[in-house]
Amino acid sequence: MLDAMNAPSVPNVVHREDYHPPDWLVPSVQLDFNLSAHGTRVHATLRVERNGLHDRPLRLDGDELQPLQVRVDGEETSNWILDEGALLLALDGDAFTIETEVELNPAANTKLMGLYASNGLLCTQCEAEGFRRITFFPDRPDVLSRYHVRMEADREAYPILLCNGDPVGRGELANGRHWVEWNDPFPKPAYLFALVAGDLHANRDSFVTMSGRKVDLAIWVRESDLPKTAHAMAALKTSMKWDEDVYGREYDLAIFNIVAVDDFNFGAMENKGLNIFNSRYILADPDTATDLDYDAILGVVAHEYFHNWSGDRVTCRDWFQLSLKEGFTVFRDQCFSADQGSAAVRRIEDVRMLRASQFQEDAGPLAHPVRPESYIEISNFYTATIYNKGAEVIRMLHTLLGQEKFRAGSDLYFERHDGQAVTCEDFVLAMEEASGVDLGQFRLWYSQAGTPHVKASLTHDASRQEAVLKLEQSVPDTPGQSNKLPMAIPLKIALFNRESANREIEQLEILTDVEKEIRIAGFAKHPVLSINRGFSAPIIVESDRSASDLAFLSAHDDDPFGRYEAMQQLMLDTLVSAVSSGTADHGPVIEAVRNTLTNNALDPAFVAEAVLLPSEAFIGDQMLVVDPDAINSARDALRRDLGGSLEGLWRGAFAAHAAKSFEYSPEAKGSRRLRNVSLGYLAGASVSDAAKLAFHQFETADNMTDRLAALGTLANSDADERVAALDIFYNRYRDNPLVIDKWFTTQALSTRKDTIEAVKDLREHPDFTLQNPNRVRALAGAFSVNQQQFNLADGSGYRFLTDILLELDPINPQTAAKLLPPLGRWRRFDAKRQGLMKAQLERIVGQAGLSKDLYEQASKSLASE
Ligand code: TRP
Ligand code: ZN
Repeated sequence: MLDAMNAPSVPNVVHREDYHPPDWLVPSVQLDFNLSAHGTRVHATLRVERNGLHDRPLRLDGDELQPLQVRVDGEETSNWILDEGALLLALDGDAFTIETEVELNPAANTKLMGLYASNGLLCTQCEAEGFRRITFFPDRPDVLSRYHVRMEADREAYPILLCNGDPVGRGELANGRHWVEWNDPFPKPAYLFALVAGDLHANRDSFVTMSGRKVDLAIWVRESDLPKTAHAMAALKTSMKWDEDVYGREYDLAIFNIVAVDDFNFGAMENKGLNIFNSRYILADPDTATDLDYDAILGVVAHEYFHNWSGDRVTCRDWFQLSLKEGFTVFRDQCFSADQGSAAVRRIEDVRMLRASQFQEDAGPLAHPVRPESYIEISNFYTATIYNKGAEVIRMLHTLLGQEKFRAGSDLYFERHDGQAVTCEDFVLAMEEASGVDLGQFRLWYSQAGTPHVKASLTHDASRQEAVLKLEQSVPDTPGQSNKLPMAIPLKIALFNRESANREIEQLEILTDVEKEIRIAGFAKHPVLSINRGFSAPIIVESDRSASDLAFLSAHDDDPFGRYEAMQQLMLDTLVSAVSSGTADHGPVIEAVRNTLTNNALDPAFVAEAVLLPSEAFIGDQMLVVDPDAINSARDALRRDLGGSLEGLWRGAFAAHAAKSFEYSPEAKGSRRLRNVSLGYLAGASVSDAAKLAFHQFETADNMTDRLAALGTLANSDADERVAALDIFYNRYRDNPLVIDKWFTTQALSTRKDTIEAVKDLREHPDFTLQNPNRVRALAGAFSVNQQQFNLADGSGYRFLTDILLELDPINPQTAAKLLPPLGRWRRFDAKRQGLMKAQLERIVGQAGLSKDLYEQASKSLASE
């Protein structure tokens, strides 16, 4: 029996319904930084005002801070206490000037939250609750303040001193030090504060806004990286123009700075006027970055820039509203990227990503609504649900309202809430008011977790010459939520005439009840159903379409997503039946792939996506119990058969899309993609010269896309070329950490049976470090999504990951917690694996001194309900 005395200390749970407005406001703040790597002094002067009638003390959040000095209206006081890190001051009156001073050790800050050192730079990361690691402050997004900042540092070590807003003064000091002052005219929450100090060099450019103001742009990197910043700069300028054209949003300061840093917990951060990026989302040249890297840079630069309005000018009231800025901004960056190249391929990639990460999350122990109800550690809620499902929710609003009304809604939202910290409900209200569309039921997308399932069955009523579509929805139970209400689901559907292959009708159906029957007149024969076109809703469709219907759609659907989806479903049906019965007829898939490959009307970029087999993980998601070995064998067999049966076509595509000199254009990307997919099939079929082809491409490629694709092919093989290629690659790029990350990842993703041994060796490699999140993700993150090798029957994969998580937790709990979810998939596996996974989760929960980040993820993953 547990009594209160020896009960384990369980971290606080924060509940959305407990929100109340701040007790004290901070209209303005002056920060003085005396910077150095091992001892930085921060002197803060806060203007504070009591908010409303109450007698509660001033509470200034702090995390690992010790006050060296506290002053009230200029008078030093000792009339304060520390409560869970926060500074509490009882104040008699309504407005005060509070001064505090603290000393920080950025070099020792391995959590990468607050002020930290990275490769000689000093930089900050404040979202979500990092500002309280810099100074005592009401660290919540609904406290908006004007910031004036003075930075002082050694001139030689830190010649460049950057902060939010505009520089308003600078000077030299006698002792080799110098200072710069910055003023940000826009009130902002503390999470948007940032500073950077270091020996940085700028790629400079400018942009003239739609009202004719000139904005100075700069991307700051170390000098040797300057040649790798051109793509990011082009992305920034294109984004600025796009937000004017599509949303009417203009940039608002005279300066926009971007800084690239090597050690970063996330992709990038939208600090006002001073975006800070993980260097992997800035640096690119053809020799070191793949097409996927170029695309990601385009998307992330746009994402952070778009936050200037959807995030900075209009921010979140509390962290439960995180998707207000993230879902909306992801939707904006997805549309932007779609406009820069093949929209069809972009949509396919976005859906593939959603299914791989968000659908799994929504079906597991960490499922939560787009607007969560509670959290222990907010950093754990920067999830695929908040970001990607959140973006799908905004996309559905766009579908329901149409472009014009959607734009009217976003105009109203920005105009009404400029300078405010608001809620998801405020966003929906603006959309509702501007459009006149009732979004009452639609709001369930914010509150109900779980991926809805829709059963669709099409029959034909010959006597009335009608097609009859029956739809039935259900929303699965998720932790803490059961018996859910039916959702409002926008479904784009079309019916095709099987003989003429013509599309007869296309319409938007909105499923609002559990069931719906739709009768469509004018069909003498049974048509073919295309449903959830363009992936109009983030749901799972269960249809009873036959293999021949799917093959038909894969050849004739005029919606590219529908076409892709039909092929995927055909492949999945084939693979699932192979896994459950041991054999399957590969014929229909081979014919459908042949049709696609020989259809000259199709864009090669699309063809490459369409002929790709579903991932092992996605096949697993279709099964009651995931059998990783059977899935791997079934997929391998189909790949081998496709590779062998269509060998001539793969060779043809490989040759037809032979490498020309590198160019980053949609056409050139599409060619590379199809060429490398073809190479993969040839290797999958073990054609005799596969390794030779791959090694030749590896050696002669003038770009990373082709070189890495060839390396990946060899890394899966037993060919002699494998070890040679890995060595050559390592030696060629040993000084480029972003490329060495790829070297780690390629080996961690290998399908070879000795992959666990390889990753254990890589864990001991001199280039492996727990201090750099990119490197940890490159090895442990990649390995844990290698379904067959991670889920080895002896549990060694689980142990490997857990060892790393426990070692990483005291260094960087946020990054450790992000890597935990693969262990929480235990319910999906057989009893033996379940036991092995749970044992590792229990090992984590039992660890003394565990962070609340990892505690929350592990304990929720273990929970029986
Ligand atoms: N707001 C950032 C984005 O989406 C996310 C982010 C950057 C973040 N750094 C972080 C989230 C650190 C949590 C912790 O662009
Ligand atoms: Zn974001």
